[in-house]
Amino acid sequence: EGPVTPPMLSTWKRAGRRISALTAYDFTMARLLDQAGIDLLLVGDSMGTVVQGHPTTLKVTLDQMIYHAEQVARGASRALVVGDLPFGTYHESIGQAVRSSCRLLKETDCQAVKLEGGRRMAGTIRALVEADVPVMGHVGLTPQSVRHLGGYKVQRDADALLADAAAVAEAGAFALVLECIPSEVASRITAEVPIPTIGIGAGPACDGQVIVTPDLLGLFEGFRPRFVRRYAELGRITREAASRYAEDVRAGDFPGPSESYS
Ligand code: KIV
Ligand code: NA
Repeated sequence: EGPVTPPMLSTWKRAGRRISALTAYDFTMARLLDQAGIDLLLVGDSMGTVVQGHPTTLKVTLDQMIYHAEQVARGASRALVVGDLPFGTYHESIGQAVRSSCRLLKETDCQAVKLEGGRRMAGTIRALVEADVPVMGHVGLTPQSVRHLGGYKVQRDADALLADAAAVAEAGAFALVLECIPSEVASRITAEVPIPTIGIGAGPACDGQVIVTPDLLGLFEGFRPRFVRRYAELGRITREAASRYAEDVRAGDFPGPSESYS
């Protein structure tokens, strides 16, 4: 069926085919996830926490996003690659949002951008779509607003969430991330908007699901939200492998003859 495109996702929604999405930050992991058949790879600004080690996503720069998105896009042959617009790279004006997005799309081979915000971002989303930038929305818990929201909390104002989702869809976004909202609200939004919803902590009714890959793989152990299902324990496996290697080096058992040149 070829590479995944933004319009395909709406077709899948109508057909009841669910969308699998994961985050990726580098070439090697992107290639593995693409080979596994993941439909959408998000170069998330979650890299601020799981790659850079900051407590929030706020420090990520557009240049860093471009650097990582470029690698991810090179690793993906089928998956749709979406790059996050970092904090402070799209709020100043519509011109800034268009410039930031066009840099991301021109300097990398990623195919769409994602930005956070509902009704307040509708004008920006519309302008980007008019500039031929495919946009994915993101409402509910929006980590770039963490100071404003007073922490990482489940967002429960159903009327506000429905209005935000409707505004993002109407502005022309091709898909919408719903983060940390009650399942019932996500289900209503999914039924009411024509574009696919991709949930994270938003229950099973969404048209797709996304998880931060280092959480899924058990690589990032800093904290573990309720909505993460760990499919592997690569943190433990990595520590075990590295400590066995260290023991072998200390004992003089590595490298052996078959691992050396004569
Ligand atoms: O940055 C990110 O990883 C995200 C997802 C959690 C949706 O925005
Ligand atoms: Na993000």
